Order: sequence, then structure tokens, then C-alpha cells
Amino acid sequence: MGTAMSESSTLDTRHHSYSPGLEGVIAGESALCLVDEGEAGLLYRGYGIADLADHSTFEEVAYLLLFGHLPTPQEMKAFAVQMTEQSLLPRPVEAFLDVVPKGSHPMDVLRTGMSILGMTDPEAGDNSAEAKVRKSVRLLAQIPLFISAADRFDRGDPLRPRHSDLSFAENLLYLLTGQKGDDRAKAMARVLDVSLILYAEHEFNASTFSARVTASTMTDLHSAITSAIGTLKGPLHGGANEAVAQMFLEIGSPAKAERWVRESLASKRRIMGFGHRVLKNGDARSAIIQRHAATLSQICGDHRWYEIATTVEQAMRDAKGMYPNLDFYTAAAYLLMGIPRTLYTPLFVCSRITGWCAHVIEQQSHNRLMRPRALYTGPSKRAYVPLDRRT
Ligand code: CMC
Repeated sequence: MGTAMSESSTLDTRHHSYSPGLEGVIAGESALCLVDEGEAGLLYRGYGIADLADHSTFEEVAYLLLFGHLPTPQEMKAFAVQMTEQSLLPRPVEAFLDVVPKGSHPMDVLRTGMSILGMTDPEAGDNSAEAKVRKSVRLLAQIPLFISAADRFDRGDPLRPRHSDLSFAENLLYLLTGQKGDDRAKAMARVLDVSLILYAEHEFNASTFSARVTASTMTDLHSAITSAIGTLKGPLHGGANEAVAQMFLEIGSPAKAERWVRESLASKRRIMGFGHRVLKNGDARSAIIQRHAATLSQICGDHRWYEIATTVEQAMRDAKGMYPNLDFYTAAAYLLMGIPRTLYTPLFVCSRITGWCAHVIEQQSHNRLMRPRALYTGPSKRAYVPLDRRT
């Protein structure tokens, strides 16, 4: 932590610590998620990520995050019914999609769409904890439809309907690619489901923190989620999954991967899908999604993306001692599924909406306004010169 203080600063750094990028700063309490590089690993409300990825479904994880416990079979059924009932896009949202400039990035469309969903929510004026949970479930149901509609409108293609007999991941795969029903689609949906479980929550990452800062003014849930979407979009955060796919396409073949990494590092280029602010010794989620990406490559009989990925991983380990993060092998899996690349980060939203909403609810349940200080680095006080006397 730095302790620098400019002469003119009014902040006494003997009593305030300063850490660029808030690195290592504990900015609040949360019972939602433990991110531990040690034995505990990554826990969602106490449950280990490997157990959740191996044995649960994204629906169960969403329920766990929003309601605080794993659902009973009856609760799971009732949740599925709610999701079906809430899977509707209000008319103003469809009208908005009709006027979105062609070629807009779906993350931009979603950010603005989130504001409209906030205005059209039937409980827009109710900021009670109970209403926030209902709004969260509504968003969980609406976002897949929204991103599919944004993509279809942009292409001038007819909308695809959601199917109430399909799981969340199966629906998502169908809405985004048209695939459902056969063994290959089932295998893809399973991998998509795992990626959604892994993406759901990660304590005070930038977008969640942004949601919590917004929520700490006691504003509405949709405002906090709009902040989070804008924050997730950046390539250093959620935008990395799309950037990784772009990188794989640029590399083109496994034979070119090692050289590509060497040359990129030599030109000081950042390799997308590597590094993490907190996880400096590797990301347990990466090993899980890597395993699934390998299986999917076998099933699809297409090894190109997976082999490019493993070659890049080895080259990064040799050159920088760096490990892939969750976005790296996820991009390889999404490429195999044939999901349009600009929908990778919106897919992250489909999942992280659960963590964001749970954090907003938690923040507002025992709120303290977030208002940190800045270390002033500008000039000392100086005299104002009227406009007509300035040269
Ligand atoms: N490729 C090459 N070098 C890197 C990378 C990378 N991806 N990431 C960090 N470094 C180097 C960096 O150049 C610096 O080297 P040096 O000390 O020689 O100047 C050193 O590692 C430390 O970098 P840093 O920027 O101080 O580390 P950070 O903790 O601030 O960065 C990060 C975290 C995620 C912003 C960064 O690793 C990065 O830009 N990664 C690529 C984008 C990415 O994959 N983002 C997804 C993050 S994880 C999931 C999520 O949050 O969505």
C-alpha cells in the first residue's frame, strides 16, 4: 500500500491508507462468496465450486444465491414456474430493440435495455427486500430473451420462443444458436450450464462492486444492475471472454499459437484470459471449464480451439508464469457451441445477474453509503483571474 501524499493534499495519509485500484482493500462484508487461494477455494454461500459444477444446475445456484439456501424439489418446481411466468419482454423493450442502431454491441443494447426494464417493471416503485427478490427472478428470466431478441432484431431474423420444458442452459443455447434436442445440443447445454455456474458470483469483482456502490445510495435494483453491466463490458473484466475468442481466431491454428504469444508479449500486448487481481496462482474455475471444453471438443470432433488454447496456456506459463482465468477456456467452449461472439459477455450477464442481485439485496439490508476519499494530486490553491485579464 502506498502512503504518498502531495504537499497540498488535505487528506492525512497517516490516518488513511491508499491502494491504487483498491488492491487488497477490504471494502465491505459479504456472506455470499468466499474467494480463497488456499484450501477452502471458491465457495458460494458455503458450497464448494467443484461440487456445484459437478452436481448442481445453474437454476439451483441461482436459487441459492437469491434465496440463501439450496432449493427443495418443491421449491425448485415453483421456481421453474415463476421463471416461465416471468419470461416476457415488455412492449417498450421490443419497441426499443426496433430502433437500436444496426450493429450496436449487445452489451450496449443490454445496458440501455436494463434501464427500460427498470421503468417497465410492475414493481418499479417498490424497493422492499421482497420486491427486490421478485425483480431479480424477473431479470433472470428476461435477460436471455432480451439478448436473443437483440441479436435476432439486429440480423432481421424472427424471434425464437423460450421452451418451458427446457432447462435454463438448454433454453439459452436454443435462443442463441437454434440448437436443441439432440445429443450434441445436450452436451453443449451441459457445458453452458457449468459455465453459468462458474460465472454466477465472485465477491467484490469490479462489476459487483460497482453495483454495490450504486446500491449504497439506496437507489433501485435496476439502476445498480445498469452500473454493473457497463462495468462488466470492459475487456479487463467480462469483455475478456469475447476478446479471448477474437485472439483464438487471430491465431488461427495451433501451429501458430506459440509464436503468436512470443511476438505479442515482445510487443507488450496483454494476452486476454490470463491474470487475475486476486488469484495469482491460478483460478480453480479455469480447470473445471477446461475439462468440459476438452470433452466438448471430442464430441464435436473439432479440436482446433482447444489445441490453440492449450498451446497458448503453455507458452504463457513458460514466458510469464501466468495462468488462465475463467474467460480463457470458456471462450473455446463457446466457439464450439457456435454462439455469436458478441453474445459472450451478455452470456456472462445471464449468469452474474444472480450474484449482482444478491449483492444489491445484501448491501441494502445493512447499508452504509460508499463514499471513499481521493488523494489530491492537483495544484495548491491559486488566485482566480477573470476571463478578460487572462492571456
Ligand atoms: N498478459 C500479459 N501480461 C499480463 C497480463 C496478461 N493478461 N496480466 C497481467 N500481466 C502482467 C502485467 O503486464 C504486469 O507485468 P509487469 O509487472 O512486468 O509490468 C503484471 O502482470 C501485473 O499486472 P497488473 O495489471 O498489475 O495486474 P492486475 O492485478 O492489475 O491485473 C488483470 C489483473 C485481470 C486486469 C490483468 O491480468 C489483465 O489485464 N488480464 C487480461 C484481461 C482478462 O483476462 N481479464 C479477465 C479477468 S478475470 C475474470 C473477470 O474479472 O471477468
